[in-house]
Amino acid sequence: MPTSPHSDQVHAGQALYRPWTLAMYDMVAFRFNCRFLFRVPVSEVVAMFDRNVSPNHLDVGVGTGYFLDNCRTAPQQAITLADLNEHSLRHAARRLARFEVDTVRANALEPLPLPKAAFGSASMNFLLHCMPGTIRQKAEALDHVAACVRPGGRVFGATVLSRGVPVGAAARVAFSAWNWRGVMHNSEDDLADLRTELAARFPIHKVSVHGCAALFEAEVP
Ligand SMILES: C[S@@+](CC[C@H](N)C(=O)[O-])C[C@H]1O[C@@H](n2cnc3c(N)ncnc32)[C@H](O)[C@@H]1O
Repeated sequence: MPTSPHSDQVHAGQALYRPWTLAMYDMVAFRFNCRFLFRVPVSEVVAMFDRNVSPNHLDVGVGTGYFLDNCRTAPQQAITLADLNEHSLRHAARRLARFEVDTVRANALEPLPLPKAAFGSASMNFLLHCMPGTIRQKAEALDHVAACVRPGGRVFGATVLSRGVPVGAAARVAFSAWNWRGVMHNSEDDLADLRTELAARFPIHKVSVHGCAALFEAEVP
């Protein structure tokens, strides 16, 4: 399915998400990983969604749909879910069925098969650290996502970094194992590089660091 230059690694970055892992994902990712390894309060990520989500929203790299389920959504919320993994798409679509939901199977490292400038906002949360390449290479996903958002709309998300942020001993051990297995690709990911790539694309943006996670919020020019 993936066709990019790192297709094996791209595949590995989403292969973990199966029905049984998705059933445990919220507990492991948010109660354990965010709290004890990444040291980012889940409430900060929910607050970022609250600040940026618009009534016509695109979510890329959907996982279980936790944040869209728990953030402040519009009464007539329209949500498009894009992910390389069909299990993630099915799980999140089921969870968010109370909204008007569309799904599309797509690799964020390639242009997204979605209308251009159509959305008021787009999230790519905890996605960059799943994708192979340097921050410069994986930042192409920022272009693909931003292309779908109208000028003045919002692009936002979080990613877990290995450099330029405080990484605890337990997180270092976990990152080595996950990068070795290919389920995470963040061993070279540096805060300074992320800032550079955001600044190159979005004159108006902000980055806030919590533990070893960087939260970014940008306005599409
Ligand atoms: C760590 S989960 C994040 C889920 C959710 N956004 C969250 O914040 O909890 C990463 C998600 O990104 C998807 N993914 C990984 N690589 C991808 C790629 N190259 N293109 C699109 N989706 C990808 C995975 O299938 C998975 O659903």
